[in-house]
Order: sequence, then structure tokens, then C-alpha cells
Amino acid sequence: MCGIVGYIGSREAARICLEGLHRLEYRGYDSAGIAVVRDHALDVRKVVGKLLNMDASLAEKPLPGTLGIGHTRWATHGKPSVENSHPHVSMNGRIAVVHNGIIENYGELRERLRAEGYVFKSQTDTEVMAHLTQKYYEGDLRAAVIRAVKDLEGAFAFGVICADNPDVLVAVRRFSPLVVGLGEGENFIASDMGAIRKETDRVYVIDDDEVAYITREGVELTDLEGNRIEREVFVIPWPAEAAEKGGHKKFMHKEIHEQTDAMHNCLAGRLSAPDRPIQLDGLNMTAEEIRNLRKVVFTACGTAYHAGLVGRFLMEYLAKIPAECDLAAELRARNPVVLDNTLCVPISQSGETADTLVALRDMKEKGARCVSVLNVVDSSIARESDGVVYIQAGPEIGVASTKAYTLQVMTMTLMAIHFAEVRGTADPALLRELKAEMLKMPAYAAELLKREPQVLAVAERFYRLEDSLYLGRGVNLPSAMEGALKLKEISYIHAEGYSAGEMKHGPIALVDPELFTVAIAVHGDVYEKMIGNIQEIKARSGPVIGVADDGDEVIGRECDAMIWVPPVPEMLSPMTVAIPLQLLAYHMADLRGEDIDQPRNLAKTVTVE
Ligand code: M6R
Repeated sequence: MCGIVGYIGSREAARICLEGLHRLEYRGYDSAGIAVVRDHALDVRKVVGKLLNMDASLAEKPLPGTLGIGHTRWATHGKPSVENSHPHVSMNGRIAVVHNGIIENYGELRERLRAEGYVFKSQTDTEVMAHLTQKYYEGDLRAAVIRAVKDLEGAFAFGVICADNPDVLVAVRRFSPLVVGLGEGENFIASDMGAIRKETDRVYVIDDDEVAYITREGVELTDLEGNRIEREVFVIPWPAEAAEKGGHKKFMHKEIHEQTDAMHNCLAGRLSAPDRPIQLDGLNMTAEEIRNLRKVVFTACGTAYHAGLVGRFLMEYLAKIPAECDLAAELRARNPVVLDNTLCVPISQSGETADTLVALRDMKEKGARCVSVLNVVDSSIARESDGVVYIQAGPEIGVASTKAYTLQVMTMTLMAIHFAEVRGTADPALLRELKAEMLKMPAYAAELLKREPQVLAVAERFYRLEDSLYLGRGVNLPSAMEGALKLKEISYIHAEGYSAGEMKHGPIALVDPELFTVAIAVHGDVYEKMIGNIQEIKARSGPVIGVADDGDEVIGRECDAMIWVPPVPEMLSPMTVAIPLQLLAYHMADLRGEDIDQPRNLAKTVTVE
């Protein structure tokens, strides 16, 4: 997904923009560009490929100037090329624009501008904004930007500079994320806080249809009618190093290893003892509202969807509320029935995923109460939700979601136990046991991380194979789906997550010595059936990696390789199983020499539908 950064101050803007862009690399990109204002002219530099090319270009020929904007582009309209990379410049060469989002009516605007004599150099939707701003410019950049965005439909976060206004940076957003960083005698813009955290911990989070007029001395926020907006300064609660790799080879590895602390954070203030009720800050629901619930609809994309599937299972199992879980991109098409007292739970690490945001809006329109489970504070989904329960994972940079998944599952588990407590739908002794084990979860995570060498040894045996199946049942079917997603997205090994019970209805035809199966067979309701499924695969000469409870000799005998996990109640095992499966994917991808933090074709945050 595109990333934008901007700077106005007394230092070299191009350097600061480039550093910020490096911190946005995790979003995925195929080209990059920077524009600065210098001596009342624009100077623009663009490169295709990695930012290393921009590092080299600036080292060879710096781009002086103290006002600038930068961009990493993830192609949506027009192939990756120098012409299509941002910043885009107006026809008169005076205005430069960087953009994250999609302008939906750009075709129509392009034709209109062409008829007025504007010449387009790129195939992008963004270029219309550069020309429109020129069209409306009469000496006041902010006024021109406001007038221009009123013509636009779609999603955008823009940074705009003008050679005739060397002391002004203008930014505006609708649906795409944007923050303004506050410094001393200097200010910044960026797509996310991590990009500028090294420079400042004070930001304004910009809302839809808000405009930031930024000078070296200060920032003024207005709406599109020019009315002043007072905004509280948000102090970023995590240190600058949190956005760095901290000695790990890859962000993904660092984030897998952060799970012990992250689990502590997630539980803090919510669960203190097995005999104390769970407190879920942010839920924003009274006990009566929880008791009256008739239906819960979880919705999310990718990894977060798998967490939602665990949520669905636990919500029915413990809280006895009919529950559904939909891929956010499919929810509208299914047109679900929303009864009185329906709760919708959108789940998202970034809080900016467009499909999830649209699903939330749809469910709200249908009358559902929406309580989201998110990581990024003050994100777009947070602002439109009736309540937000934060997973408190800290920044997740690696494209492959790891700690966010485990904590989404943890939060979902807390929610289901809490609802069961309030509704009185589960045996209090069971709930006490679950809470006692939840409190031990950070210790289990620490133990699982210590066992990384065992997972590496398994990866070394199988990483050369090109096909795999991940099998699970019940509450661990989502674990199988998530394990497979993790492997395929970073190692490019073909991986399918399946219900073990479905094997005999088709996928078993794939089994041969060249396809390895990861079978999740921890103790619980479906254990015996999983043993049967493992035997079916072994009978067809398929190698099996078992994931089972410590000391389970039965599974140990059946499988070719083992990943051992500490035994926990089956309902909680999606959290313990997730960690070694993340490590397995990581090590297989690493052994294959893949670019783990920036897998091909993927973006960390998908802000287009
Ligand atoms: O930010 P979100 O949680 O809404 O993102 C949802 C998916 O795009 C995300 O989980 C994606 O599937 C990751 N690549 C998984 O590792």
C-alpha cells in the first residue's frame, strides 16, 4: 500500500522523507519518489524498485531544500514506472502531490481536464489532483487543495507542496490514514506514526475531510469549509526503538518473540485472578445489553478472519450466542440478517483495512452495534465503532501478522469468557479454569519461544518441498488455516488449511511423499479423530509433522516429525499452537532465502477494496 511522508523545517527534507519512507517499507511498494521546493522551484527524484535505489541516487546527487514530500507507491492504476511514481506534478510544474488511496472518478476528471488543455504524463489516478490543484490555485495553496478535493470521489491522503509557497505544506484525508507530527520549528506528515516516531512522539491524527495547513511554526486544522478544528495532541505511547528490528534478523522474527510481553499487556487490567470477573475496557456495553444479545457477527480479512473464526467458536461454545464469521469482502454480498441486539465484531490489526471498514459501515447501517477488536489506536475503524477493545500488541511491522493474531485470539477468548460470565451460560468452574490458564499464557509463550531450535530442525527437514496441507478440527481448524496462510505468504510454498474431516472428500488425492502435512492434534474433543486422519495420510506415504501436547507418545509414534506444545485446555490451544506454526513458516521462508518482511505482491495494510 502506498506510503506518504512530508517535512517542513530547517533540515534537509529529502533525507527526513527518505528515512520515513524506509519505515513505511513494510506496507509494500514497487517504486518511490521525493519532491522538494528549493529556490522557488520544484526538484523531483523518482526510482523504480527498492528504496536502496533512492539511497544511492541521493548519495550521488543530494536534493537540498527544507520543504519536501515523499512517497512509496504500490501500483493500482498503471504499472510500476518512473512516470507513474509519485510525486505527481501539475502541468505548470509548480505543484507536487503525493497520494495514498484511490480516486474513483479519476476517469471522468481526466477527460474534463484534458478538454481544458491539461496534458497527462502518467496513467495514475493521482495526476488529476495535481492538475486540479493548479486549476484552482490563486495564490492560496490550502484553498486550492480544498477546492480540488471537493471534486474527488474515493479515498485519499494527500501531501501537497507548491514552488510558490515555500513555507507551506498542505495535507488532507478521506478514508486513508494520515498523521501530522509536531516538532520544534519543524513539522511532519506521514501515513502512520511509526514513520516519524524517531522525530517526535506528538501527533495529530487527521480525520476524514480534514485539512492540515502546516508551516515551520505550527499546524492549523480545518474542515473543508475552512472552519478551525481543535484537536488534542496524541502522545505516541511506544518508544522509537519499537519500530526498529531490535537485533532480530527480520521484523517478523522480532514480533514473534515479542509475544510474551504482548500477552502480558493484553491481559493487564482485564484479568487479574481466576476468581475475579474479566473487565473489558472499551467494550462499551452494559451487562443487560450483553445478556440481551441475540447474534454476534465477526468480520475481518486474512489472519484477522482466522482469529474471528476462533471467536465464533468460543462465543457459541461458552456464551451460547449464535455466532457467524464472514470475510469482510464477502459480508455485504451475503446481506446477513441483522436481528435486534446483533453485535458485529470487526477485527483488524491496522484498523485501516478497507474491506473491514466497509463491512463495519454496512452492519452499522443495518442496525448492528459494532465493537471492534483492533491494534492501532485511533485508526479509521476505531473512529467509526461503537466500542473498541484494543489487543495492545504494539506496532506490527512485518507483513505477515504474528503477534497481532495471537492477541486477537486472546482478546476474543477474553470476550467470550466475559460474555459467558455475564450471561451465566457456562459452568463457573470451567470459566475459572480457563481464566487460570489464560494467566499462564505469557509463560507458555516464553516456553514455546525457547523451543525455537526444535522448530528450526523440522523446517530444515521439509523446506525443500513445494506443497503442504495444514489439518485441524474444531477450535483448531482456524489454527490450520492460519498456519497455512503464514507459510504460503512468506515462503511461497503451496499450503492449504483444511478441516481434517474434509480430507477424505477430496484433498486426500493430493497426498504423496512430496507433500507434507502439518496435523494439529492436541488433546480435546477431536483428538481421536485427528489420530485417524494422521493414519490415513501415513497409509498413503505422506510425511506428517504432528503438533501435539508434550509427552503424547501416541502421536509421537505416528508422525515423521513433532512440534511439542505445553498442554492447555483445548479452547485455549489456538494461542499455543500459533507460535510454533509462525516459527515454522518463518524458518522455512528464511531457509529458502525469501524476503520475509516484504513478501512479493503483498502489502501490510490493504486500504483499497
Ligand atoms: O490490518 P488487518 O488486520 O485488517 O489486515 C488484514 C489482513 O490483510 C492481514 O491479516 C493479512 O492477511 C496478513 N498478510 C496476514 O499475515
